[in-house]
Amino acid sequence: MDFKARSFDPASFKTDCMVVLLPASGNLSDMAAALNRASGGLIATILKSGELAKSGSSVSLYAPTGLQAKKLVLVSTGDKTPTDSQFAKLTGKIASLITASGTKSAAVCLNGVCPDNRDLVWTAQQLARAAGESLYLFDQCKSKQEQNRPALAKTALLSDSKDTALLNAAIDKGLAVAKGMNYARELGDLPANICTPTYLADRARELATATPKLTTKILSEKQMEQLKMGSLLSVTAGTDIPAHLIIMEYKGGTRGAAPVALVGKGVTFDSGGISIKPGAGMDEMKYDMCGAASVFGALVTAAELKLPINIVGLIPAVENMPSGKATKPGDIVTSMSGQTIEILNTDAEGRLILCDALTYAERYKPRAVVDIATLTGACVVALGSHASGLFSNNDDLATDLLTCGEETGDRAWRLPIWDDYDQQLKSNFADMANIGSKGAGSVVAACFLGRFAKKYPWAHLDIAGTAWNSGGQKGATGRPVPLLVEYLCRQAG
Ligand code: BES
Ligand code: MN
Ligand code: ZN
Repeated sequence: MDFKARSFDPASFKTDCMVVLLPASGNLSDMAAALNRASGGLIATILKSGELAKSGSSVSLYAPTGLQAKKLVLVSTGDKTPTDSQFAKLTGKIASLITASGTKSAAVCLNGVCPDNRDLVWTAQQLARAAGESLYLFDQCKSKQEQNRPALAKTALLSDSKDTALLNAAIDKGLAVAKGMNYARELGDLPANICTPTYLADRARELATATPKLTTKILSEKQMEQLKMGSLLSVTAGTDIPAHLIIMEYKGGTRGAAPVALVGKGVTFDSGGISIKPGAGMDEMKYDMCGAASVFGALVTAAELKLPINIVGLIPAVENMPSGKATKPGDIVTSMSGQTIEILNTDAEGRLILCDALTYAERYKPRAVVDIATLTGACVVALGSHASGLFSNNDDLATDLLTCGEETGDRAWRLPIWDDYDQQLKSNFADMANIGSKGAGSVVAACFLGRFAKKYPWAHLDIAGTAWNSGGQKGATGRPVPLLVEYLCRQAG
């Protein structure tokens, strides 16, 4: 993809589409002033008209006098400095302009506009990521593919910065993050009759073949039986399609260096099992493998960026279905850790597969383990779609992840896993139940996982509210790939 930073006068830059971000009022920056001068005061006139008063509003002009651009698009930031998330909306708008089919070449002039405490390097990465994200189109299940597919124009990010190497590195990183996000989005959006555990295993094999330093190993149900993963296997009991434990190892770091383990919930469809879910919106439970998808996405980006770090991706992939063979409420199973679990609700299945994967992770002696899961509806109640829930047994790890969320606009918010909540998991018949007494569902679920993650620094991201959008814009978001990649980058140093 041809997206490069250039230090160039915007007035004499030849391009199909020149996009200029600027505030609705105040003095013009050097670059905007240059454009204004060359065009005989065009920009000042438009600003005076008031058409650019609102943040996100825009004005397009064809064949602007005095400029070499065929089309000039002015995009307004409004009259206040944008916040990170307002800025993300603006880059989203610019991204759709430079990826519109038909635009062959484009130039973007951000004019130094950035949120407080951010710099041009940060904005360059955000813009590139937005451009990469807007290339995503899921039409493979329609009988006719879209004719006007988005494509990234040959794009120049114009600024007066001479440090184009730094900006280009940021652009490349932004595009790589988007590539991982789009990989994850596709897996999420695929229907559950295509995206089965076996399909995910095949994609892992395909990725390993295509990617240097990435290998994969797929464990069968039989191998999981030998490992005594009784909890994971209880979830797959009701379905006719086989479960797999997908293991992906990326070895970008020094040999023998402790890896970061990413564990992703891969329930390719969650009907609830015998504790079956109500019908409304049940289709969205095809997204119950978005944690797994984010592990794929993070590995795609890590490999693209050639991160010098070792990563293990662990994906328990299963379908949760009711049948005559399904696990029943009241059944007691023994997890790989030896701890027994009374399954009071078969719809609390995510924790049942993750706990065995967390035990399996011990063999890698990981420096940190992060699990990612669409784990609880309660997390959507608590945080909506803006932040993922974060839980951790290690304050440094939690702080690192929160920081990475802030940095990328892929935010998380920490919730407690106090012993007071853990007590809700008490069972009369087994070591624990798989659901708690009423209240704090996300916290209790995290407490359950915490019982299997005592041997390493561990964090859990509940992405039930952030992994996909519902309604008219239904679709996977690619979150929390940006957060995870930022964490991996920082661990790589
Ligand atoms: N996959 C769901 C959680 C979920 C629900 C995510 C809705 C996004 C939207 C999970 O397996 C589940 O069913 N959790 C139950 C737990 C309950 C039975 C303790 C829930 O949240 O209702
Ligand atoms: Mn469930
Ligand atoms: Zn689920």
